[in-house]
Order: sequence, then C-alpha cells, then structure tokens
Amino acid sequence: MIEEVRHAHEAALEQVATALTLADLRAVDSEVLAKSGTLGSLKSRLGSLAIEHRKTVGQAINQAIEAVESAADERRRELSAAALQGRIAAERLDLTEITARPRRGHEHLAIQAWERLEDVFVGLGFQIAEGPELETDFYNFEALNMPRSHPARSGFDTLFTDYNEDGTVLLRTHTSPVQIRVMQTVEPPIYMIMPGRVFRRDTPDATHMPVFHQLEGLVIDRSITMAHLAGTIDAFTKAFFGGDFTSRLRPNYFPFTEPSAEFDIQRPDGTWIELGGCGMVHPNVLSAAGLDPEEWSGFAFGFGIDRMARERHGVDDIRDMYSNDVRFIKQF
Ligand code: DAH
Repeated sequence: MIEEVRHAHEAALEQVATALTLADLRAVDSEVLAKSGTLGSLKSRLGSLAIEHRKTVGQAINQAIEAVESAADERRRELSAAALQGRIAAERLDLTEITARPRRGHEHLAIQAWERLEDVFVGLGFQIAEGPELETDFYNFEALNMPRSHPARSGFDTLFTDYNEDGTVLLRTHTSPVQIRVMQTVEPPIYMIMPGRVFRRDTPDATHMPVFHQLEGLVIDRSITMAHLAGTIDAFTKAFFGGDFTSRLRPNYFPFTEPSAEFDIQRPDGTWIELGGCGMVHPNVLSAAGLDPEEWSGFAFGFGIDRMARERHGVDDIRDMYSNDVRFIKQF
C-alpha cells in the first residue's frame, strides 16, 4: 500500500504542477484529497491493514496529503498572481498620447509682426493706442478730409452696417480714424502708433484679404518736418527688417496728408517693396480733431501688418496665412 500512496502522491503533485487555472486546482481537491479521491480514499482502507502497518501507512498518507495541499496552495498563489498581472495588462490605458510632450502652438504670423512692430516703435519712443473697429463716417472719412462726395472714399470698398439708415456706421477701412480719436484726447506732443484690424469689401486673392491689419503712426509736435518722417521710416525699416534694408519716399496723394508720399523699402538685393503711405498731416485734419494748424504740425504714416509678415517670411500667397493649415503654420 505504501507503493500506492507514493504513486497517488506523485500523480497528484504532477496534476497540481500542470494546473493552468484555479478550476484545475479545485479538481485536485475533489479528485485527490476528498474522501473518494485517490489519496483520501486510501485512508478508509487503513482499517484493513495489519496493526503494525497502520501507523506508517497512515503517516505516509497524511504527509502525502499535506504535501499536495501545500503544493496546491503554492500553485494557487502563482495562478492568482498571473491572473492579476493579466488583468492589469488588459486594463492598462495607453496614456502615451497624453504624457507625450504636447505640440505647442504660437501666435499668428500677423500678430507676431504686430508685436515686433510695437517693440520697435516703443524703442523709438512711441506710445500705443487702439480704436474701435466699428467706426462712424466722421472718423473714417469726414475728419480725414474726405467729405461725402470725395472720390477717395470709393477707393476704400467700405463695408457699411445697417445700424442706422444713413449708412454712417461702418467697419473701419483703415486705422487712420484712430489718429483723430488720439488727437481729440491726448495733449500734444503726440508720438503714437495705432495698430488694428481693418475691413474692406474685397475678394481674397494672393495679395488681399477682406480683413487685415494696419499700423498707423502719428507724430504731432512743434516744427515737425518731412525730414523727421523720412528718418522715422528709415529707423523703423532698419530695426524691423535689418540694417541692410533702406527706405525711400515717393510722391503720392492721400486726402489726409499734404504733401503725401508712398514709402518703399529696398531689400539687400536691390529690389523694392511698396509698403505704405505717409505724409504731413493736412491742416484740415488737425482742425477737424481740434488742434490749431498754426501751432502744431506733424506727420502720419500707415501700412499693412500682414504684408510686413508676408515680406519677412517670404510667404507667396497671403491666404496661406489664414487657412489654418498646420503644415504651413508650424514652419514659423
Ligand atoms: N490709411 C491709408 C490706407 O489705408 C494709409 C495711410 C496713408 C495712412 C497715408 C496714413 C498716411 O497715415 O499718412 O491706404
């Protein structure tokens, strides 16, 4: 019978070792250890043994049972640990997208240029002012020496609102109306720039957008001459584009300045870019804003910010700057 015990013991250990699930281990309980099991049933046969053998065989059975039980416990722990690992692996969330460094955005090209321009002009001693995007006919045209019938008005492709019947409330077509607002509220001397968003009834193309940005400049002081204007334009050109750029003024016409000029900048390769308009503030404009033209004189200038950004970064089509295509945006 000792032989049978040994046999059942070895078979049971093998069964435990090869158990793959907790259910397999429960089968060991019923098939081996239970009263009817391969080891359990041996106990009931002890009675039939000779007295002198009962003790040794009984001990052998008990030892075998204990050994199988502890092997089963051990195996149960292994299987539970593996089951837990499996569950952890299965339930694991992939957080790599979150923990990976997010791609950082940046300011729009036009806003980058806007802020750089502000820095340059603040460095030249200018202050910054802003005005409303919704303007009245008075500020956008009338006070800028463009009365009702003035032909220059038609050049602005104005977007009127139906805020009141006579069409006197409009989306400003340029930042020049802010000049008037500044002159009405700030005591001269005035050294001010006025950046802002402007609007025109225009179909977008490679060089135009119906919504764009301008930067207006205004200097009002005593004895201001055209030389101050030319010097200021040149100083800002060099500060913004680099010391190897130069500028020039070309005679032009604007209702709000007299004399008026167009200003161009020259790239290091000798080619010219037309940038904006400027001139000596017209006496009618000073008067409309409540300043005495006999006492004060000054110059003004205005140019497109988007255009500056385009020039700085060599963007061929201005519409690319507003298409929100990341492949374009992330280059800057
Ligand atoms: N307001 C003009 C425009 O939008 C630009 C301009 C020209 C502004 C001459 C000025 C100036 O201040 O003096 O076309």
